[in-house]
Amino acid sequence: MLLRNRFLLLLALAALLAFLSLSLQFFSRWLPVSMQLKTEVHAFPEFPVRLIPGAPGRDDGLSGKNRKRIMPDPLTELPPLDPLHEANLYCNTPGIRERSMEGHAPHNLKLLSVHVMIRHGDRYPLYAIPKTKKPDIDCVLEPGRKPSHPLLADFISHMSKGSEAHMDSALSSLPRFPSHSLCEMGELTQTGVVQHLRNGQLLRDIYLKKHRLLPYDWTAKQLYIESTGKSRTLQSGLALLYSFLPDFDWKKISIRHQWSTIFCSSHCDCPVRNHYLEEEQRRQYNLRVKNSHLEKTYIDMAKVVGVPTRQLRASNPIDSLLCLFCHNVSFPCTKNGCIDTEHFKVIKSHQIEDEKERHEKQLYFKYALMATHPLLNQTVSRMQRVAEGKKEELFALYSAHDVTLSPVLSSMGLAEARFPRFAARLVFELWHNPEGKKEQYVRVLYNGEDVTFQTSFCRGQERRSKQALCPFAKFVRFVKKEMFLAVNGTSYYDTCHQRLF
Ligand SMILES: *[C@@H]1O[C@H](CO)[C@@H](O)[C@H](O)[C@H]1NC(C)=O
Ligand SMILES: *[C@@H]1O[C@H](CO)[C@@H](O)[C@H](O)[C@H]1NC(C)=O
Ligand SMILES: *[C@@H]1O[C@H](CO)[C@@H](O)[C@H](O)[C@H]1NC(C)=O
Repeated sequence: MLLRNRFLLLLALAALLAFLSLSLQFFSRWLPVSMQLKTEVHAFPEFPVRLIPGAPGRDDGLSGKNRKRIMPDPLTELPPLDPLHEANLYCNTPGIRERSMEGHAPHNLKLLSVHVMIRHGDRYPLYAIPKTKKPDIDCVLEPGRKPSHPLLADFISHMSKGSEAHMDSALSSLPRFPSHSLCEMGELTQTGVVQHLRNGQLLRDIYLKKHRLLPYDWTAKQLYIESTGKSRTLQSGLALLYSFLPDFDWKKISIRHQWSTIFCSSHCDCPVRNHYLEEEQRRQYNLRVKNSHLEKTYIDMAKVVGVPTRQLRASNPIDSLLCLFCHNVSFPCTKNGCIDTEHFKVIKSHQIEDEKERHEKQLYFKYALMATHPLLNQTVSRMQRVAEGKKEELFALYSAHDVTLSPVLSSMGLAEARFPRFAARLVFELWHNPEGKKEQYVRVLYNGEDVTFQTSFCRGQERRSKQALCPFAKFVRFVKKEMFLAVNGTSYYDTCHQRLF
C-alpha cells in the first residue's frame, strides 16, 4: 500500500514536471536565446547537467536536444526547427569559447585513452551553381583576418617545415595548409583551420594539462592518426594536432591514409550495407518528389540562373548556399532576379525533414550499423589493448567527413544528435579505477556534450548505477555482438552476406 502511494505520488510529480517543462519549452522557443538560458536554468535547478547549455548565442548543439529529452513527445508538440538557426549551428563560426564536458569523471578514475573522430572544418563548396560567379572567398591564411587564432601564424610556419613527417604517399603529396586566394573546390578555409585549432586547444587543456594523457616526452607510438585522402581532412587533422601538441616534432608524427570515407579499411565488402544504402536513397528520393514546395523552389531558382531544373538540382545548390550563408556573402543574382533567403529556407527545411524521416524509417540505421562496424571495431580493439596495460596509441585521431560521423552517431542510437557541423568532434574516452580490479568505463561526447547515456548500449544506465558511469564492457559487447542483432546477424561477415529475399 505504502509502495503504491509512493508510486502514485511519483507519477503525479513526473506528470507535473513534464507539463511544466512542456509549456516552458514551448513558449521559450520564441524568446531570445539569452532569455531561454535563464528560464531553463532557473526553472529546473535539480537537473543542472541537462539544462546548462554551452556558450550562449553560438551553438553547442545542447539546448535543443536537452529540451527534447525531458518532454513526452517533442516531434508532435513543438513547432518545426528554424532553418536559419539550424544553418547557423552547422556553420559553427568561431565565437565565444564553449563549455565542454570532455574529461569530466569522478576523481578516483584515471584516463587511459582518448579517440577523436572529426569532420573537417569549414570548406569551399564542392559544386558550383551553374552560370553564377564563384563565391569570392579567400583561402590564403592571414592571422590578421577574422576569424583568427593566437596559434595561426605559428601553425603556418610549422606546416611549411613538415617534410619529415611520415605519411602514406597519398597524403604526403597534399598541401599541409590551404593557400589559394580564390579557394579551390572543397578547399579548407581559414575558418576551417581556426575551428580545428580551437578543437585541439580545448582537447589539450583537458587531456594533456589536466589529465596528463601523454607523458611529457611522448613518442610516435603513443599516437594513432588516420586521415582520408582529401586536403581538407589532412589539414584539419594537422590543425587540431598542432594546437594539441604545439610545435610537435615532425619526426614523431605518422599519418595513415584511409581510402574509404567510412573507414572500412580491408573490410569494405558488404553487400547488405549497400542494399540498405540504396533503400535509403530511394526513401530520400521519394520524400523529395513529394515535396511540391521544394520542387517549386528548384524551378524558381533554375529560372533565376537560366538552366534546366534538373541541372540546377544536380549542382546541389544547398552546399553552395550554405557556404555563402556561413561566410555572410549575399546569394547570387542574375538579370532574371536573385536567389534569396526564402529559397534557402525551403531547401534547408527540407533537409531537416529528411533527417527526421531518416530516423523514423530506420533504413539508414541499418546501413549505419554495417558501415560503422569496422571503424568502431578498430576503436574498441585499440581501447582493449590499452585496457590490458599496453602504453601505445593512447590518443587516436580520425580525420574524416560528415558521411563518416553521421552513420557512427546513427548506429550508436544517438537519434537526437544533429547532423555533423563543420569541425564536429566525436570523442570516446576510456577510464579505469586504479583501485578496482577490472573496472573500466567509457564516455562518449559529441561536440562537448556528454551523450554516453543516450547511446543504445548505455541508455538508462545512469539511473541504475550510483556513479553514472558506463562500463566499457557494454561498448565492447555492442560492437562485437549487439550491432548485428538489429539486422538479424551474428557476425560482421555473415550479416554482410546474408540473403535478404
Ligand atoms: C554581414 O554582412 C552585412 C552586409 O553585407 C553586414 O551588415 C553585417 O554586419 C555582416 N555580419 C557579420 C556577422 O559579419
Ligand atoms: C575486428 O577487430 C579484430 C581485432 O582487432 C580483428 O581481428 C577483426 O578482423 C576485426 N573485424 C572487422 C570486421 O573489422
Ligand atoms: C529479422 O527477422 C525477423 C523474423 O524472422 C523479420 O521479421 C525481420 O524483418 C528481419 N529483419 C531484418 C532486418 O532482416
